[in-house]
Amino acid sequence: MRRKEKLVTVQLTGLTHKGESVGRTEEGVVVFVQGGVPGDKAIVSLARKRKGVWNGFVKEILTESQNRVIPVCQHFNYCGGCSWQNLSYPAQLALKEKVVIDSLTRIAKVSVNSLEPILACNQEYYYRNKLEFTFSNRRWLLPEELQNDVIDVNKNALGFHRPGTFDKIVDISQCHLQIDLSNQIRNSLKNYCLSNNLSFYDVKNHVGFLRNLIIKTNENEQALVLISFSEDNQSEIQSIFSFLKNNFPQICSAYYAINTKKNDSWFDLQCIKVYGEDYLLTNLHHAKYCIGPKSFFQTNRLQAEQLYALVKKYAEFQGHENVYDLYCGVGSIGIYLADQVKNVIGIEEIPEAIDDAKINAKLNNLTNCSFLTGDVKALLNDELKSKFGAPDVVIVDPPRVGIHPDVIAEIINFAPMKIIYVSCNPSTAARDFALFDEAYQIERLRPVDMFPMTNHIELVSILIRR
Ligand SMILES: C[S@@+](CC[C@H](N)C(=O)[O-])C[C@H]1O[C@@H](n2cnc3c(N)ncnc32)[C@H](O)[C@@H]1O
Repeated sequence: MRRKEKLVTVQLTGLTHKGESVGRTEEGVVVFVQGGVPGDKAIVSLARKRKGVWNGFVKEILTESQNRVIPVCQHFNYCGGCSWQNLSYPAQLALKEKVVIDSLTRIAKVSVNSLEPILACNQEYYYRNKLEFTFSNRRWLLPEELQNDVIDVNKNALGFHRPGTFDKIVDISQCHLQIDLSNQIRNSLKNYCLSNNLSFYDVKNHVGFLRNLIIKTNENEQALVLISFSEDNQSEIQSIFSFLKNNFPQICSAYYAINTKKNDSWFDLQCIKVYGEDYLLTNLHHAKYCIGPKSFFQTNRLQAEQLYALVKKYAEFQGHENVYDLYCGVGSIGIYLADQVKNVIGIEEIPEAIDDAKINAKLNNLTNCSFLTGDVKALLNDELKSKFGAPDVVIVDPPRVGIHPDVIAEIINFAPMKIIYVSCNPSTAARDFALFDEAYQIERLRPVDMFPMTNHIELVSILIRR
């Protein structure tokens, strides 16, 4: 028996860090709400209480916010990929700026005089060059299907995880994040698999042949496709790739992996090439990069160009600099800057990323780049300094957790003139700015919007030695 729905009226005033809107009921109770935007007054259906706060979703809008726009995507509300699609782009930018200002003033306790206006993304949609989809026999059923008690439907899906569930997949027919080639490949592949009665993965019982699909695309509308299967059934695998080869000449690189594990992670799987090139090629302005099946690469290429150009502008290189590029991934920032400086030393803990960094340096005919595999915390020491020389500029682009305090202490000890901090999390960046503050002051700082329609914010800053 279905439980009785609890409805409340909520005035929405802000957004949480996860991108849900937040507001209060007429009695003053705080509610996190899906499907609303700040400024809306709405009737909200309460779903559950988590850590003492009610979570719910908009049932009916009573008064619309001025910042509300019509989402372009038919899957909005269900897929959770771009939760800010119903908020105008200028309002998204203003909110992101506010998050950065709040972090700087509340956590770093620094003045915001150095803050420059957020760098907007010229392309609000179709900006991603990589998407990962999941095959599943547990399709998320749309509310209208549930209402009509339709039980005898095809439950196979190829799409994105339904937020808040581990087993349900929202079947995607059109995603506005990647060029349309991605939609065409995904939809054709799904239809092929359905018409050939191939089994979609059942995550509860761990059976089913088809598991995951990654599509990477480049600026020349070429694609790298990687599919994972639960078993090494060569006749089906080869048939699938023949179908793709015959129908999509744009796929210039095709790989598969066999995943017999219970989880979907790729890092420990061997990727086997079926046909085409080893890598997809892409450019960031003058710099060229190879993107392999497992390489991490900036997912918004056009905005990565803006971000790296900003790093270069802030650093004002003279040509003599020894640059440490910490948390360097596939070496993309260091390689972009290498023709402007004397040497680049990149450090990254994922060995495959360092392999790609070395390939990328060669591709760009660079002989002044060294790339080392390991934990920054372990490698940043006097031995490194005596081998490669003290850095004039240190670039850090850490993961969301920010920089370990010991690494900050060691960077301060190395005493570079400039530190360029690229961050994907303003609150950990603000915490780290506070630790650098005894020796370095923020000279310039600019938020960069790499991911329109989402709550994610990047920022680039330059700290100068006091
Ligand atoms: C935000 S990414 C930056 C990648 C790169 N700078 C770029 O723009 O493509 C952070 C990188 O730091 C690496 N990483 C995380 N913790 C690390 C650590 N303790 N030591 C070395 N690398 C680390 C991750 O593997 C990831 O590649």
